[in-house]
Amino acid sequence: MQKQKILIIGSGGREHAIGWKVSQSPRAGEIYFAPGNAGTTKIGTNIAIKATEIDKLIEFVKREKIDLTLALPDDPLALGIVDAFRTENLRIFGPTKSAAQLEYSKAFSKNFMKKHNLPTARFKVFTNFDEAIRYTDMETLPIVIKASGLALGKGVIIAQTRKEVHLALEDILVKKVFGEAGNEVVIEEFLTGPEISTHAFSDGINFSLFPTSQDHKKIGENDEGLNTGGMGTIAPLPFVSSELYEDIKNKIVAETLKGMESDGNIFEGILYPGLMLTTAGPKILEYNARFGDPETQTYMRLLETDLLDIVDACIDHKLSDVKVKWKDMSACTIILASGGYPGNYEKGKIISGIPEAEQMPNIVVFHAGTKMEEVEDSEHGRMENLVTNGGRVLGVSAIGENLSVALATAYEAVKKINFEGMYYRKDIGKKALEL
Ligand SMILES: Nc1ncnc2c1ncn2[C@@H]1O[C@H](COP(=O)(O)OP(=O)(O)OP(=O)(O)O)[C@@H](O)[C@H]1O
Ligand SMILES: [Mg+2]
Repeated sequence: MQKQKILIIGSGGREHAIGWKVSQSPRAGEIYFAPGNAGTTKIGTNIAIKATEIDKLIEFVKREKIDLTLALPDDPLALGIVDAFRTENLRIFGPTKSAAQLEYSKAFSKNFMKKHNLPTARFKVFTNFDEAIRYTDMETLPIVIKASGLALGKGVIIAQTRKEVHLALEDILVKKVFGEAGNEVVIEEFLTGPEISTHAFSDGINFSLFPTSQDHKKIGENDEGLNTGGMGTIAPLPFVSSELYEDIKNKIVAETLKGMESDGNIFEGILYPGLMLTTAGPKILEYNARFGDPETQTYMRLLETDLLDIVDACIDHKLSDVKVKWKDMSACTIILASGGYPGNYEKGKIISGIPEAEQMPNIVVFHAGTKMEEVEDSEHGRMENLVTNGGRVLGVSAIGENLSVALATAYEAVKKINFEGMYYRKDIGKKALEL
């Protein structure tokens, strides 16, 4: 069997989880991570190239004769890494720059949804502050104001008062606090209901929908406090009926991919719609054009089929030949974060207990903000410590026969792990179990 040399671009828990899954493929050869983290060194080799250094990545891929590249974060996709690789005849998984607009331009995605009659919040796009104010003056509050471009998850403001509307529009359109990402704003109707995520593998025409999942975006329990990159995920969602799942598949995912195809902008890669389950049915809050983090850590625990087989089939437009199978179990991931995150936090705290946690059945610990640090010790000489190196440090994932069992197992494992200031939410999956 021909082994493939693989490059995985990115450095978070998502990249560790994809690497973990890919490494189980009999077709996986050497695996490289650019730049990776301390966890990915157990699977492959980290190389010191950033996800956005596309020229350097191409040079590396040519030099090392990499067979397949997986570009996981949003920014290289928005920079056109897939187009750049294809121009060089290099094999890569993901959407083109034009198709990735579904994520990196909210103005594009909202206009796309409107054109193709996809269910989403009523909206208007503005570039001018005064016009935006005039529009919001006629609308009821709260109202949602979004910088159109990539803003590290900070570009969405739910304004409760006219003053907040004014400040948000001034920040984005006048003061340019998000830079060019705020050249356009989307102003949209405020929706309510449970939020869910789903993903689909797409070869452009055929797709395969994942089970549904749910992230927990807020730092605090009961969904209070500041937004984060995600504090924990569960899948599949016990409250999503098979009818609703079919609706999401047929009315949202299939229609989105069909719309892209008919616009001459086929979407290959991972389509990840963020949905709100309103009383009027599921509505699309946003699209992402890549694997979610930390959804991926949970999804990879459930995926049974060889991920390389799926990725290769997507690239070759043969996804209909592959049967994508998921374990008939539940999974969850609890994020362990640095104290102070998503505000200021300290790095370099020694992490203990991961081997003990991973000795437990059904547990895998994915690294996110971690690194190995060399220290001089008078007793032991030179030694290496695993230390914290980011806001979200680890993702403790578990599988179980149902969601309660998976959650209980994950929280048991969390108890074994420690670093100074470690913070995590104790209510991941709680609402889903109560719904
Ligand atoms: N129309 C809306 N009504 C109510 N809440 C909304 C609406 N649009 C967005 N939100 C809230 O704001 C959050 C972020 O919005 P959105 O997903 O569009 O932004 P994003 O910055 O692309 O997020 P992500 O980092 O998840 O990709 C949503 O998860 C949801 O909680
Ligand atoms: Mg998004």
